[in-house]
Amino acid sequence: MIGDWLDIGPVGQISPGIARTLPVRGSDGKLVHEITIFHTIDNHFYTLINHCRHKAGPLSQGIVHGAVVTCPLHGWNISLKSGEALGEDKGCVPTIPLKVDAGRIYLLRYAVMGTHPRAPHPTDVD
Ligand code: FES
Repeated sequence: MIGDWLDIGPVGQISPGIARTLPVRGSDGKLVHEITIFHTIDNHFYTLINHCRHKAGPLSQGIVHGAVVTCPLHGWNISLKSGEALGEDKGCVPTIPLKVDAGRIYLLRYAVMGTHPRAPHPTDVD
């Protein structure tokens, strides 16, 4: 059902190897969080909340290698597929389901509006 998906524009607006952020605002107009859409060199799209689970580093400014982004603040590696921290680090960044249809990018509306980057997670560490 198309109403469940937010059309955020044409695929061509994000070149391969680039990440773009989208602000998500509440009904009061205040910023709730940011979403980052990653377009990888091998032409896959992934969407994460733009706040690393460690100390909220801006993942949109990280280095992408394969389906992993390295946080620019302290170097945690985050899976673009699952949002999980890799290696010995623990924590999970919320992901947003994304689909590409007829050259346009869509995000699952409920996930965009219902996900909060600071929601507690059982694997979080200090
Ligand atoms: S804020 Fe991302 S690794 Fe520390």
